[in-house]
Amino acid sequence: MKTKIVSMDNTNLNNDIIEEAGQIIKQGGLVAFPTETVYGLGADALQENAAARIYEAKGRPSDNPLIVHISNQESLAFLVREIPDKAKALAKCFWPGPLTMILYKSDTVPCATTGGLDTVAVRMPGHPISLALIQAGGGYIAAPSANVSGRPSPTKAEHVIDDLDGKIDMVIDGGEVGIGLESTIVDLTGDIPVILRPGYITREMMEPVIGEIHIDQNISEPAAQPKAPGMKYRHYAPKAPMVLVEGEALLVAEKIISCCAEAIQNGKMVGIIATDETKNSYPDGIIKSIGFRDNGEAIAHNLYAVLREFDKEEVDIIYAESVIEEGIGYAIRNRMRKAAGYHVLHVPEITDFRKYNRILFITGSGTGRASMAEAIMKSMKLVRPFEIESRGIVVLFPEPVNQKAETVMDIKGVKIKDQKSSPLTEEDFTKGTMMVVMETRQREKIIEEFGYFSDIFTLGELTDTDTDIPSPLGQPLRGYTECYDILEGLLQQLADKINNKEEDKTW
Ligand code: TXA
Ligand code: MG
Repeated sequence: MKTKIVSMDNTNLNNDIIEEAGQIIKQGGLVAFPTETVYGLGADALQENAAARIYEAKGRPSDNPLIVHISNQESLAFLVREIPDKAKALAKCFWPGPLTMILYKSDTVPCATTGGLDTVAVRMPGHPISLALIQAGGGYIAAPSANVSGRPSPTKAEHVIDDLDGKIDMVIDGGEVGIGLESTIVDLTGDIPVILRPGYITREMMEPVIGEIHIDQNISEPAAQPKAPGMKYRHYAPKAPMVLVEGEALLVAEKIISCCAEAIQNGKMVGIIATDETKNSYPDGIIKSIGFRDNGEAIAHNLYAVLREFDKEEVDIIYAESVIEEGIGYAIRNRMRKAAGYHVLHVPEITDFRKYNRILFITGSGTGRASMAEAIMKSMKLVRPFEIESRGIVVLFPEPVNQKAETVMDIKGVKIKDQKSSPLTEEDFTKGTMMVVMETRQREKIIEEFGYFSDIFTLGELTDTDTDIPSPLGQPLRGYTECYDILEGLLQQLADKINNKEEDKTW
């Protein structure tokens, strides 16, 4: 198939071309077009076989439902069973715009469009070309992002052409898109709306309009069952493995410099996703900036193009700086974590242990690794007294320490008398408390439940090993002995660090 490529000025639409594109849609064809978020690949949402053509062109699994795009508020009623008040309020406030709502579908929407679900995703985009094309195409255009499945969403027509030339009928080139990340998806089928995919429209922007909103727990975690089927696919991974480094700007840059030096010494070609502030501080590697750190909108705009550029470079590994997490930064971090396949290094913000007087070891239940760590740490010599305790994130009632953990500690001669697990509570988040978790995931759980707290570290981070300490649960005694030995080694390192830092007067 020959793909027709046409350019159009956003402020001066060419009606003949819009008419022609509309006809293609009505006849069951495919047209890629710009929206304010990313380029979409459009087909008639009400034709059963149009969706099948989209899946074929994108190489996309057909259980992944499509978003239906409309051009006016009234069209919504035709697609859904009923419009809850909260949906009305959101539409009034944010449409046209980068917000997609999930509602129960009406019988008019073919199952092929919704991937067999009884709900439908609807959005009214704000881009003039989108709106004109939807009208010309019959009013209901199903459009996923116009990329081949597994690549970053296209933010320029050139990206669409790279991926889909010869597979679709037409590309309308309206220049670079404005936002650069896909729309926010909010599910309004339950009592409390849930954000399934973060985007430009944030929870903070919507809550004043409709009240409490939840965020799908599974957004931040890899191995879960997200409610938006599309979120479960590893959307995009660069050709080279990517490592996301999170933390304070300068420390992140330092960490990347040392990781790069090591990789280069091992004969590897390194790519760096940097920011404008730091890009000149890297001595080696292929460096590309995504913009100024605190300008989330510019970063959103540049991110996908930079990721695509790296696919053309011969690098073996990519280190990426993580950026601010406020506003659209939350969506940026979500997309970057996915691109990294959730390979994240967190650089501890503070290694000045002098600000702490209390160490809290935390795991899920608080009966295994955390209580062993507590007992081991208490047996170590520290330059000054610390309050040392352990907690569990999910403790319904205090449980005794795991029997095998207790046996191992008896053998090792570490005292652990009458220790029971206790739950982590709000009162634990005090100034001077350093929280130490065993797995990165546990920090995310804590932050999700209690809000952001800067003094949570994994034991791996504090000892520069950057690995999680696996749970011995379910293993024979030997597993617990091994776990004990690992903990003892790392905690000795931590104790040395605390002691050395405090003795170093110049520091
Ligand atoms: O900004 C955007 O939303 C772009 C532009 C083109 O509008 N479109 C886009 O579509 O990103 P796509 O297909 O790449 O992503 C749609 C997401 C997928 O994760 C899909 O699983 C989810 O929306 N989705 C669609 N219908 C759904 C439904 N009924 N329930 C839950 N999730 C749904
Ligand atoms: Mg997509």
